[in-house]
Amino acid sequence: MSYTIFFGEDMATTGSMTAKRSNGSMTAKRSIQKSPHKEVRRPVWAEVSLSALTYNLQAIRKYVNPPEEKRKTPRKILSIVKGNGYGHGGPEVAKALEKAGSDWFGVTCTDEGVGVREGGVRKPILILTSFVPGEESRLVKHDLTAVIHRCEQMALLNQAAARRGGKKPVPFHLKIDTGMNRLGIASGDVECFARQLAKCKHLQLTGIFSHFASSEVFTNTQVGKQTREQEERFYGALDRLRALGIDPGVVHLANSAAIVTRPETWADMVRPGAILYGYHPGYDPMEKREEAEARLPLKPVMSLRSRVISLRKVPTGAGVGYNATFVAKRPTRIAVLAAGYGDGIHRSLGNRGNVLLRGKLVPIVGIISMDVTMLDVTDVEGVEIGEVATIYGTDGTQTLPANFVARSIGTVTSDLLCAVSQRVPRLYVR
Ligand SMILES: Cc1ncc(COP(=O)(O)O)c(C=O)c1O
Repeated sequence: MSYTIFFGEDMATTGSMTAKRSNGSMTAKRSIQKSPHKEVRRPVWAEVSLSALTYNLQAIRKYVNPPEEKRKTPRKILSIVKGNGYGHGGPEVAKALEKAGSDWFGVTCTDEGVGVREGGVRKPILILTSFVPGEESRLVKHDLTAVIHRCEQMALLNQAAARRGGKKPVPFHLKIDTGMNRLGIASGDVECFARQLAKCKHLQLTGIFSHFASSEVFTNTQVGKQTREQEERFYGALDRLRALGIDPGVVHLANSAAIVTRPETWADMVRPGAILYGYHPGYDPMEKREEAEARLPLKPVMSLRSRVISLRKVPTGAGVGYNATFVAKRPTRIAVLAAGYGDGIHRSLGNRGNVLLRGKLVPIVGIISMDVTMLDVTDVEGVEIGEVATIYGTDGTQTLPANFVARSIGTVTSDLLCAVSQRVPRLYVR
């Protein structure tokens, strides 16, 4: 497994995880020794950089609006803030993104949508996985835009719209299943949808979309061809809808990988998730990620941090943590962090991962507990109680990117970011 720690622009270093895990030779200025906590509390927190978030949004907006295209109106951005804003705090990041110019927001469900609305967001919010029967009135009341992914949902939404009254019809977006076989009406069911729509006088179709299953895959395989097939099905359905005299409204398709690497999918609006939070998805082939990073440089938004709350010396042969899965091969100094898998440090990082401490990559040893994580700091001089460790994110000029951490345990960055639990305070910094 290879990784990179970034020491600013001129000092990037790459190497193998095992060779450099406990390398004590890397030095850099330690910048984060004070947490921005106002009161004393258990020292674990997720620092969310609003300037990085805003930077990413603006970079995406610029990228999908190349001047040579000469569009009359800029292509819109629907910021995906579901899953509590990929762990960053849904209402808070939505508010910051609205201020920075995001046109739309996407959340999973009514509850998330209400949270974002009540957080003060005024722009349209799309409820991506739609409503379950009984939820539709609440959705309409909070001015959330429903997604219709089954024709039968339309009558319920229409009734809720009628109950609400008012002159304006209730807007909704239609999701087309173009091959992911998850949610959406089949592309062949457009005629059935049109018949239903004609009966729903209180509704207005204001958008149509689909979701890509494999936009990050560029191999010469069936999966590598899937995005193109999905696009063809989608535009086929769109043409039939238009031929039936239905205005589809805003057309949108592209998630992060498609935004960065497939300009032909941009349509009227794009839906960034992962890239908003500073991470390119993993591509197949892997080299494609470097190309993506060069095309659209991003800044990681979240840094997950904790402090050392205990230090001990253990003799050769002593086990550390549950089931003694780490046994000291030499007199070893163990530091204990006040964060575990109950906070969002992935359990599979036990005996595998690293954190940034004193400018060095320090190995995690033993099984990660719910509340604490142990580090081998034998090779790091002078570690003291209270020092800050960065589990992923940036520390001064250094970065331990969450996507490298995710890849080292066979998962995706969004999984790590969403895992940051409720008990971890989010601290919003500029
Ligand atoms: C419908 C829809 N659009 C866009 C996204 C954003 O995806 P990504 O994080 O790959 O940008 C998601 C996330 O899964 C989604 O469900």
